[in-house]
Amino acid sequence: MENKTSYKEALDNRIFEIISQAAAQLNLESYVIGGYVRDFLLKRNFKKDIDIVAVGSGIELAKQVSALLPNKPKVQVFKNYGTAMLRYEESKGEFIDIEFVGARRESYRSESRNPFVESGTLEDDQNRRDFTINALALSLNKNNYGELVDPFNGVSDLHKGIIRTPLNPDITYSDDPLRMMRAIRFATQLNFTIEEESLKAITKNKERIKIISGERIVDELNKILQSQTPSIGFILMEKTGLLDIIIPELTALKGVEEVEGQTHKDNFYHTLEVVDNIVPNTEDVWLRWAALLHDIGKAPTKKFSKKHGWTFHGHEFLGGKMVKKLFERLHMPLNHKMKYVAKMVMLSSRPIVLAQDIVTDSAVRRLIFDAGEDVDDLMTLCSADITTKNPQKFKKYHNNFNIVRQKIVEVEERDHVRNFQPPISGEEIMEIFNLKPSREIGVLKEAIKEAILEGEIPNEYQAAHDFMMSKAKKMGLITK
Ligand code: CTP
Repeated sequence: MENKTSYKEALDNRIFEIISQAAAQLNLESYVIGGYVRDFLLKRNFKKDIDIVAVGSGIELAKQVSALLPNKPKVQVFKNYGTAMLRYEESKGEFIDIEFVGARRESYRSESRNPFVESGTLEDDQNRRDFTINALALSLNKNNYGELVDPFNGVSDLHKGIIRTPLNPDITYSDDPLRMMRAIRFATQLNFTIEEESLKAITKNKERIKIISGERIVDELNKILQSQTPSIGFILMEKTGLLDIIIPELTALKGVEEVEGQTHKDNFYHTLEVVDNIVPNTEDVWLRWAALLHDIGKAPTKKFSKKHGWTFHGHEFLGGKMVKKLFERLHMPLNHKMKYVAKMVMLSSRPIVLAQDIVTDSAVRRLIFDAGEDVDDLMTLCSADITTKNPQKFKKYHNNFNIVRQKIVEVEERDHVRNFQPPISGEEIMEIFNLKPSREIGVLKEAIKEAILEGEIPNEYQAAHDFMMSKAKKMGLITK
């Protein structure tokens, strides 16, 4: 039975009337489709991109719309894909990207060099979309303006919270294997369930994810990591086998081994708990990346000995090194973001160790020195790392952490080592001792830094100067 519900209120924006008018002038049908309609029905804080499908040429429609707009925005044409885009200025400085596509029968195959496009009806086009909830269309035609076109019960799937493909999922996923990641991403963002047949098809087609570029996969991973509960997505990726292909460093953490009655925790599920514990941030996903990768060094360093039980010696250092390789493999940025994640991984056990012992000022100073600007993020990561189910331990660790936090504030107020600048520069040392660039300068600078971090001298010029003179004397740089 066809659904005749109308949603004129979704089209409460002048641009829709203009598109409707342009389409009428060209004598073709047009519809709003995809994410805009889905998010309107979900009453989700919807993003501003709008997808328009024309039964006819999407490029012609885009040009006609531009002609009707006062500032005649530039139309960007992607001829190979039969699509066009324009940027509509909704109000001063507020822009909406509008993408136009002609309805097609066969979607392009993303691995193909020659995308294949054949025009079709609206329903042909809806058939070729990824999910029923993304195939919902609202008419922009004069005769039934605002009417919902929902041939696959997408609205019912929206209400039930189901991710389902319009066609046999084998076809939908093999048309564009990125959709396997999109299915999992939508399931995570919306807290929806992926329908059984779809899940089987993802498992079956998982290898095809290899034809998708790292950048596009990472876009989806980032969206998963920005969701409220990323573990939903990572568990689905693990179940379907995608994770083993994309981030095998994580699946290597799975499982609990027992030797002589001694076990260790399952570091995969522990990792996911840590990620979920970090508050999501849509602007900055990197602390969650750090949480995701903080234990990856544990699989290659795992050892059992009678004396020490299970150990993961040096896993932080190795993990930090592994971050770079992983970023390279996934074509992620190799800039300061990568360095930040690697640094977080390398330092990820430090505050915990501090919290277990009596906290000395010098240990706190070293932590602030090593973490620098990122010391607060490091503390957030390490608090999230406390996943013990023992309430007494949980309380104790958090209490100790609060002591560490307090100490960080006190020590930093006094010693200012967060953005440590050597109180005496290399140039000055050269001048004072009349030295050319040489090893001695490094030795003196290092000795001053160490004395400050150890708390032997305050982080002040005069104290550093006096200390340096006595050190120089011992080194034979001065005789008096
Ligand atoms: N689409 C598809 N297959 C893809 C990508 C997109 O079928 N691999 C279709 C879907 O109908 C989707 C629409 O194109 O709704 C627009 O895609 P996109 O802008 O990527 O996603 P949205 O659904 O708008 O949602 P989001 O912005 O959250 O990604």
